[in-house]
Amino acid sequence: MNLPNMLEAKKRENIDVKNVDYNDVKLDTTLIGKKFFVRTYGCQMNEHDGERIKGILSNQGMVETDVLEDASLVILNTCAIRENAHDKVFGFMGILKKLKEDKKDLLIGICGCMAQEESVIEEIMSKYKYVDFVFGTFNLDNMISVINDRIRTGKQNIDVLSSSGNICEGVPEVRDSKYTAWVDIILGCDKFCTYCIVPYTRGKQRSRKKEDIIKEVEELVSKGYKEVTLLGQNVNAYGKDLYSSYTLADLLRDVSKTGIPRIRFVTSHPWDFTDQMIDAISELDNVMPYVHLPIQSGSNRILKMMGRRYTREEYLTLYNKIRERVKGVSITTDIIVGFPGESREDFLETLDIVNTCKFDGAYTFIFSPREGTPASLFLDDVSMEEKNERLQELNNLVNKYSNLSNQREVKKIVKCLVLGKSEKDESKYMGYTENNKLVNIESDEDIIGKIVDVRIVEAKSFSLNGVYMK
Ligand code: SAH
Ligand code: SF4
Ligand code: F3S
Repeated sequence: MNLPNMLEAKKRENIDVKNVDYNDVKLDTTLIGKKFFVRTYGCQMNEHDGERIKGILSNQGMVETDVLEDASLVILNTCAIRENAHDKVFGFMGILKKLKEDKKDLLIGICGCMAQEESVIEEIMSKYKYVDFVFGTFNLDNMISVINDRIRTGKQNIDVLSSSGNICEGVPEVRDSKYTAWVDIILGCDKFCTYCIVPYTRGKQRSRKKEDIIKEVEELVSKGYKEVTLLGQNVNAYGKDLYSSYTLADLLRDVSKTGIPRIRFVTSHPWDFTDQMIDAISELDNVMPYVHLPIQSGSNRILKMMGRRYTREEYLTLYNKIRERVKGVSITTDIIVGFPGESREDFLETLDIVNTCKFDGAYTFIFSPREGTPASLFLDDVSMEEKNERLQELNNLVNKYSNLSNQREVKKIVKCLVLGKSEKDESKYMGYTENNKLVNIESDEDIIGKIVDVRIVEAKSFSLNGVYMK
């Protein structure tokens, strides 16, 4: 048994970054041929981990199912970013408990960022005894041994490391899409924004070797993939821990040479966003004109308390530079309201910067205290009612600008990568523009997997309607 420790997880010294190859341990034979169900919560990096969990299990002869009742093994790949992410998981556990009452040999596992939290593990050990095994974000590649140990001993098996410098290459993956793929470029985060749990749950910032990344993209190109999204909590820090001068701008240029039609990258922290990166985005045709640039707050006082390392003025300078230099760019952001001590004046500064930037889109959140982070101890004297009102007010403004941004696309002919049938209307297709807008497309031809010209005919709040132009 290994239990997580947040104080350990905070340490950055004495962690050697090691590249290791995936070690294919054999799964206990009782599970071979049986079905598994995986549910993933949280960010794109966690989604990509979900693809690895599916890959590892499929590789061992298990079969994926999306019917919970058919599964012999259920894994919840969790997120810890806000309290409501926890609530969703604990809610789902109630359903699993009932299921297990009827199906005694059902195996239930928890992994992902919640598994890295001491309080969650304590709760699982005391109240959720029917959970069979837990592994963390640092030992996903060891999942099969964790499951085997549970079967062999018959006891709840908790195996969570607090940190690791390992980068495991060659883990099997079953990708959710045949056309667009996630590619990790940098793991962990060393920014330690005061509200954020990610540096504790994902550990030290560590870049994958450029050769491994380029090889992965080349393989995706040869399989017919049309788009890659380079992933990291802060992709702009790419290379800093590994090379003396090779940066994300250089990586974009090298990935561009693979010939993959579309390259995206998330998330960008304003701190490490260099002019060289702006040059790369504007010069390279296959790097898409889309930047997700979280601002978090418009108040310098709050930004400082958040430990974000930039002022609103610095953010604006960068924002305007990207707007000016990258043709047709769309820029989205993340904003937190109700940070401890946020006054009405601070909040008005956030509204003001939204009015100045006119973001193409924004994800907005109410501050959620995360145990073990500095901000969870800050004095918070703003009522939940007030926070909800601020969120509402902010959302109204943010929606106004995302609507306007969508309106500007109407009548344009834009390139879309078509990913499948539209979720809302089976007779239509859905795809994304170069600047990452969702389009529902009318077409009497099957255009899935292609990059096609689409004439935009209508703008909705969160999507566009268009017609395929032959
Ligand atoms: N690495 C990315 C963000 C990862 S988390 C970055 O630095 O931009 C995604 C978003 O969740 C953050 O941008 C932030 O807006 C929000 N978030 C993170 N911790 C939060 C918390 N404790 N409460 C509310 N929102 C939070
Ligand atoms: Fe969290 Fe800040 Fe790191 Fe983003 S940059 S993951 S918000 S600590
Ligand atoms: Fe959530 Fe962990 Fe991602 S906390 S947002 S799943 S890094």
